Amino acid sequence: MVINGSKEILSLCPMKLKNDLILRAANGQDIERYPVWLMRQAGRILPEYREVRAKLSGFKELVETPERAAEVTVQPVDLLNVDAAIIFSDILVVPEAMGLQYQMIEQKGPWFERTIRSREQLNFIDKNIDVADRLGYVFEAIRITNRELSGRVPLIGFAGAPWTILCYMVEGRGSKTFSESRKLLYTDPDLAHELLGRITDVTIQYLKAQVEAGAHMLQLFDSWAGILGTEQYAEFGLKYIEKIAEALDQQVPLTVFSKGAITSVGAIAKLNCNTVGLDWNMDIPEVRKEIGESRTLQGNLDPCALYAAHAEVERLTKKMLDTFSSKRHIVNLGHGVYPDIDPEKVKTFIKTVKDYELRF
Ligand code: CP3
Repeated sequence: MVINGSKEILSLCPMKLKNDLILRAANGQDIERYPVWLMRQAGRILPEYREVRAKLSGFKELVETPERAAEVTVQPVDLLNVDAAIIFSDILVVPEAMGLQYQMIEQKGPWFERTIRSREQLNFIDKNIDVADRLGYVFEAIRITNRELSGRVPLIGFAGAPWTILCYMVEGRGSKTFSESRKLLYTDPDLAHELLGRITDVTIQYLKAQVEAGAHMLQLFDSWAGILGTEQYAEFGLKYIEKIAEALDQQVPLTVFSKGAITSVGAIAKLNCNTVGLDWNMDIPEVRKEIGESRTLQGNLDPCALYAAHAEVERLTKKMLDTFSSKRHIVNLGHGVYPDIDPEKVKTFIKTVKDYELRF
């Protein structure tokens, strides 16, 4: 099936996975040890990633070149021994597919020429887009990655949650406060809902197509969830995540990572998802007490803990593992790994998790 590379054949005959720990943990099944991976593991910390990137014009070309995107997706599996790969892409490919081009400016981050702050500006967004056409490079990267992985570990697909995508479409760049986006919720909530609805529709198509291409698991990143109060997050955040979760209906396990949404964890656990992602401000035993055993928890070591000495990384990792009260855990950091972390520290973190003996 790999020989002729046919999409149809590949999707009809999913490769048998040699390591499916993370899928079992997400489904609440039996595991021999806790699975571990890192958000933002594909890229950033690895010199091998920077080498591949240096041969291209930059981040965007890497994202849009399926062979190279697949190569850097597999790197952390080879070099760090993680229990899952995450497709190398970005949450910002969705606003771009909708018609808002972005640039990734070195040392600065994303920049959109056009933003959506008024009804007239909604016209910048294309309606009825063909996701297969506009984001075909992501699906191709997924197919190539699975071929390269040949079932070694599952592949995670992802998208930004609608609220976080709205933040970039309204702001046009990163921000500490995203006050233009929050302003919109007070000045024109209908426009915000219209935009969120459109992002949601594209995201559903996009994630379904990722599964069709071979993603074994999905994660929604709501990086800016924490800047909204509980009520606003329910109305402008969770409502749309719920729509996505319902549309996907656990075709593959789904993780919802709403960074900073401490007071919404209970509501997230009621969604049609398998796993709730926790950042490092969230207390694992407290969350467990609140939501019970019906969901898997993912996280949540402080990414800064990996700046500590090796012995300390080991101690802090074990301390986190000791707070687990069942098998329903996937180990990760509480947010993406920082670019200047020594990969050797990441290896210590991963080894500590793998050596840890299950108590359940
Ligand atoms: O390893 C992985 O997790 C897969 C790849 C991935 C990237 N971005 C690649 C990337 C994933 C899952 C993302 C998600 C993403 N992108 C989020 C949500 C997660 C989070 O961190 O909160 C957000 C908010 C973005 C938007 C984005 N992309 C920003 C703000 C930036 C610039 C700042 C930064 O984080 O470096 C990016 C660039 C980006 N996306 C890089 C990578 C590897 C760095 C580009 C480079 O220097 O090569």
